[in-house]
Parts: sequence; structure tokens; C-alpha cells
Amino acid sequence: MYAQMVKTDAKRVKRPEEMSEQERAFQARIDRGEKIEPKDWMPEDYRRTLIRQIGQHAHSEIVGQLPEGNWITRAPSLQRKAILLAKVQDEAGHGLYLYSAAETLGISRDELIAMLHSGRMKYSSIFNYPTLTWADIGAVGWLVDGAAIMNQVPLCRASYGPYSRAMVRICKEESFHQRQGFEILLVLSKGSAAQRRMCQDAIDRWWWPSVMMFGPNDEASPHSAQSMQWKIKRFSNDDLRQRFIDVCAEQVKLLGMRLPDRELKWNEERQHYDHGPIDWSEFYNVINGNGPCNKERLAVRVQAHEEGAWVREAALAHVEKKRRRYA
Ligand code: 3HC
Repeated sequence: MYAQMVKTDAKRVKRPEEMSEQERAFQARIDRGEKIEPKDWMPEDYRRTLIRQIGQHAHSEIVGQLPEGNWITRAPSLQRKAILLAKVQDEAGHGLYLYSAAETLGISRDELIAMLHSGRMKYSSIFNYPTLTWADIGAVGWLVDGAAIMNQVPLCRASYGPYSRAMVRICKEESFHQRQGFEILLVLSKGSAAQRRMCQDAIDRWWWPSVMMFGPNDEASPHSAQSMQWKIKRFSNDDLRQRFIDVCAEQVKLLGMRLPDRELKWNEERQHYDHGPIDWSEFYNVINGNGPCNKERLAVRVQAHEEGAWVREAALAHVEKKRRRYA
């Protein structure tokens, strides 16, 4: 149902002798570190890869509002409510910059949204998990936004100009989100026994889904090699995942909590933390539409879009009225 329909044919990286002259010149620009801009020539697969990735990313920001929006009315204080409201609004803004960046590639926002709503485009697996307690809002900020930043800071140097520029502001806001999440957990970790239990429980439930956010292992990632050659991706899924695990394994100590991985251990030789096996069957189950909240998330998005139809119609009528008045 959720099979990605913006298909790319970039399973294998072309050798220079297999490229056309135009493709070689394009790759040379990438290799020199030049940015590719919307009106520049680009291979069709580069364009489609970007539409797929930026579109998925935009959808993730928009759907990503839902698990947290669920807690706006239940935040434990006025201040927490105001902070959460601002954060959820930031996510909406990120979605809008990203849809705009995707539109520079010749696809409309309406087409992208239609593909999301019909299950033909993906959004991040992580947003198919429920937020059961207030501590989940802390865990989402610390772990989910933390994983998002780890993946997105390198995207500020992606080869496609509009995407890389959109990412600069997004990353600044995401780093604030990550800190507010950690601070929620820090307060809970110093609270009552029940609050500490709630904090540990949220970490236990959000840890492995956050680790999976980076995508399949490198050998199972069909798009990585080509996306790295085109400098859309700067680091592999596994490299970024390892960095995330290394950072969190230290940060969790400040909370006096533990990550739910008995095999997590510092490896002096590798200068990284070793970790236990990842349950990839869970990941594929979620991205194939069978996670705990997939159906609910999509249904809420479709409903919001349908109920907002009058706003879009009113905005268009207003533009038309102004056009006629000044014609
Ligand atoms: N959730 C859903 N699908 C995923 C996924 C995930 N966590 N990770 C990988 N996939 C999908 C890919 O889309 C691809 O699907 P397809 O073949 O049907 O098109 C397939 O799994 C194979 O994965 P690859 O590693 O080959 O795919 P990519 O090269 O595209 O790498 C990625 C995946 C690392 C997620 C990359 O697309 C990326 O960096 N995207 C931009 C960042 C992004 O979208 N982040 C989402 C979270 S945004 C967020 O968290 C918002 C914040 O405010 C909280």
C-alpha cells in the first residue's frame, strides 16, 4: 500500500564511461562542490531522487505534527503548552519550506500531497508510533529530533541549492526542539519515582524506532550509493546511526536512565559504542503501512485536508478578486 511511487532507477552508480557528456559535466560540477540550481540541467534520476527524498521529508514534517499536537491540550503547564505549540508550528513551517524546495523540481504541492494521501509516497516511520505519556514528548524531542538533526545537518551541504538552503533554518530550529525534549526528561528524571519510571518507559519505547529512522543498513539501502555520488547524501545511513548512538549513550547518563540495549558497550578499538541487533522486520512492517498508528495518521491528514478545502478556495477567490481589481 505504501510503496513509494516516485520511483528512481538509480540502483547502480554509472561509471564515467557509461555517462553521456552532459552527465559527466554534471558529475564534475558536483565533484567540484558547486550547487545545482533549479534551472540548471540535471539527470532525470537526480531530479526524481530529490523529489522522492524532499517530498518524503516534507510529508514527515507535516505528519510529525500529529503525535505532538496530541499533547498540546494536556501539557502540564501554560509554559510547556506555549513551547509545544511553537514547536509544532515550527514543524509546519519546515514542511512548507520543503514543499517549496520540491516545487522547484517541477512537481506541485498538490501532486505531492495527493501521493501522500493515496499511500504512493512515504513519510518517516517514526511518526507511526503513539505518544502515550508526557514523557513521550520529551523522548520525541531528545531522540526523534536528535536523530533528525544528525541526519539533516549534513543535508545543509546537499548538492541541490534550494534543499540545502532550506535545511539551514530547519536545523537551527530542530536543535532547539532537541534541547527542549531533553530538558523535559531531565526534569522528570529528578522527580518522583513515578516520574522517573515514566521517563524510563518513554526512552524504552522510543529508542529502537529512533535508531531505525536512519533507514536500512547500508548494504540494504538501494539509493545510498547514487545519492552519495550526487552528494545529496553526505554520509551513509549506518555512519549517521552510529554517531547518534554514540551521542545518546553518553547523554542518557546525564538523565540517570539507561538505553534499552543490553549489548550497548564502548568499543575502545573502534572508538564507538557497539550495539545490539536492530529488528528490521519491525521497520519494514511500519514502512509497509502496518505500524501502530499508520492508518490513523493518514486518516487524520486526509480529513484535515478535506476540511481545509474552503480555506484554499477562499484564498484563490481572494487572489482572483485582487487580479480583477488591478487588471
Ligand atoms: N521511514 C520511512 N521510509 C524510510 C525510512 C524511514 N525512516 N528510511 C528509509 N526509508 C525508505 C526510503 O524512502 C526508501 O524507500 P523507496 O525505495 O520506496 O523509495 C527505502 O526505505 C530504502 O532506503 P534508502 O536508504 O535507500 O533511502 P534514502 O537514500 O532515501 O535514505 C533517508 C533514507 C536517510 C531517510 C533519506 O531519505 C533522508 O535523509 N531523507 C531526508 C530526511 C528525512 O526525510 N527525515 C525524516 C524525518 S523528518 C523529522 O524527523 C521531522 C522532525 O521535525 C522531527
